[in-house]
Amino acid sequence: MKIISSIEELRDQLRGQLRTAFVPTMGNLHEGHLSLMRLARRHGDPVVASIFVNRLQFGPNEDFDKYPRTFQADIEKLEKEGVYVLFAPTEKDLYPEPQEYRVQPPNDLGDILEGEFRPGFFNGVSTVVLKLFSCVQPRVAVFGKKDYQQLMIIRNMAKQFALPTEIIAAETWRAEDGLALSSRNGYLSTEERLEAPTLYQTLNQVADQVRTGGKEITSIEQKAMQLLSDRFWKPDYVAIRKRADLKAPSMEDLEKNEPLVVLSAAKLGNTRLIDNLEI
Ligand code: PAJ
Repeated sequence: MKIISSIEELRDQLRGQLRTAFVPTMGNLHEGHLSLMRLARRHGDPVVASIFVNRLQFGPNEDFDKYPRTFQADIEKLEKEGVYVLFAPTEKDLYPEPQEYRVQPPNDLGDILEGEFRPGFFNGVSTVVLKLFSCVQPRVAVFGKKDYQQLMIIRNMAKQFALPTEIIAAETWRAEDGLALSSRNGYLSTEERLEAPTLYQTLNQVADQVRTGGKEITSIEQKAMQLLSDRFWKPDYVAIRKRADLKAPSMEDLEKNEPLVVLSAAKLGNTRLIDNLEI
């Protein structure tokens, strides 16, 4: 595997490649990330991964400085997956000057759910992803459903900018007890780790209630939030939304069996976890 930090060198290395499959990450790789590498390999060749902790998508009080950086271990994992190039730019490589041109997602997608609680987050994500695409020029790129809203925003960005990159969705990889793998799980204490699967269990309960004909969407959401609060979580949201546009379903949508997804973000101690489940 070639490890490249400069954009120029990356371009030299990938010149003439027409079927590149790309997986952007922020490192601290776990099985979820590696499942994306495997999916990428089925859709293209060579597979290019990136590791870059993107300052633009962290709020002033978020964990940019303490975000786990495990570069050597990450390299070994990617080697085993047959990744051809790891693009690991420094901040100077990717942002040699302040990034003043930005991608601003539409408010009705970028400012809801995660965007409401993390202002500017999807602007930072979209901007770095467009820039990484511009460096790698992939034919396909793989994103996890774990970050459902991110996947949707990147998809819409690729469509509206007519990018030549097809966006592929990977299923959420979970631990045996249901907890979605995440770099932030490493922040959990032993006790919190035992409690953490409650989030996924709650999403399953919500999904069951909707599947069995529950139409009181707001009340189902509120009960789920209460259930989490009772177990000492601090939920930001539990939201039942349409898969197509992440808007709340109308009564008519529910009657038409519109495809739905339930999304949630909640803090356990100081760790903010997100998860979702397609209904
Ligand atoms: P990061 O959190 O490192 O995630 C990189 C990719 O792995 C994302 O597409 C994410 O959805 C996926 N992923 C994370 N956990 C997963 C799991 N348990 N199962 C399946 N896929 C999972 O998301 C980012 O980085 C950044 O926002 C990025 C897109 C790299 C832009 O900076």
